Amino acid sequence: MKKVYLITGGAGFIGSSLADSLLTKGHQIIVIDNFNNYYNPALKRENVSPHLKDPNYKLYESDICDEKMMEKIFTENHIDYIVHLAAKAGVRPSLEDPIGYAMSNLIGTNIILEQAHKHNIKKLVLASSSSVYGKNEKMPFSEVDNVDKAISPYAASKKSNEVLAHVYHEIYHLNIILLRFFTVYGPRQRPDLAINRFVSALEEDRPIDLYGDGTSFRDYTFIDDIVSGIEASIKYLEDHESVYEIINLGSNSPIKLKEMVQIIERVMDKKAKFNHLPMQAGDVEGTYADISKAARLLNYKPSISFEDGIKEFLKWKRRTNK
Ligand SMILES: NC(=O)c1ccc[n+]([C@@H]2O[C@H](COP(=O)([O-])OP(=O)(O)OC[C@H]3O[C@@H](n4cnc5c(N)ncnc54)[C@H](O)[C@@H]3O)[C@@H](O)[C@H]2O)c1
Repeated sequence: MKKVYLITGGAGFIGSSLADSLLTKGHQIIVIDNFNNYYNPALKRENVSPHLKDPNYKLYESDICDEKMMEKIFTENHIDYIVHLAAKAGVRPSLEDPIGYAMSNLIGTNIILEQAHKHNIKKLVLASSSSVYGKNEKMPFSEVDNVDKAISPYAASKKSNEVLAHVYHEIYHLNIILLRFFTVYGPRQRPDLAINRFVSALEEDRPIDLYGDGTSFRDYTFIDDIVSGIEASIKYLEDHESVYEIINLGSNSPIKLKEMVQIIERVMDKKAKFNHLPMQAGDVEGTYADISKAARLLNYKPSISFEDGIKEFLKWKRRTNK
């Protein structure tokens, strides 16, 4: 049956990919996005441009921190589900702009939760992040691990969202799934993320800025798997009562930075040159997702190898000239 989804941050990388999938299935989509300049907003305009022609799609160019505007949007639309993705999303920039991160990620999330409560919208999926695990040494990272030791303002904002969401679940009985995404990549990937930066550098024969000695590692997750995981979370909310769950969405297959570069070199048939730099404050050494909970609750199963995912990304990048 046709449902109405509110996607905050729906012009961004993950949100616009989710909108693609939900529109194809005939659902109605409302997007709130402020097209901020964290990266070139023209890329976000291109993400939404195919959607704008769809009669099932409505875009509000607005900041989630604008309470009056949020009240208007929530009053004039009937919403079945909220997928809250709007956030300042990078780790390193959060050290330069901690207050901006607190506004978008803490106050913004509080406003969305409050509107959901006031307008009796009971089913929400919220974006959390693998960065909440900080320097966790126990591998793979499990949802039951302690995550009290954030090492960046961004990570602290995501952990705070998890805590705040629990309040709204406990007091107002909102059903909420918080998804801890692990480094998402694929078509439309944010230009600030490593894979995109490395591919651009290689295409233009520039040296790659390589932080650390190449042994740091990430559990990369292909965008289609993230979209499937979000949709499976909505299904879980439809089928269950009284839900508050935190779930890792990763690939359970970490890749070292130097291996990642080798795979990109192989796929592009080019040799990289390096500009070696020290590890950055706020960056974690490694991420590694235990995805057994996602498998159990959501029937989640990553679908694509890292090398094939890189091929898909490269095809998109060359086709769109991004
Ligand atoms: N991409 C990843 O690897 C990754 C990993 C972990 C968590 N996440 C989380 O997933 C979500 C989506 O990330 P993404 O990679 O698609 O990032 P993105 O920057 O491409 O998308 C976020 C969107 O939110 C919008 N936005 C930001 N602040 C806003 C505000 N105050 N009001 C309205 N709109 C606002 C931005 O304009 C942008 O279009 C974020 O919450 C991010 O923290 C992403």
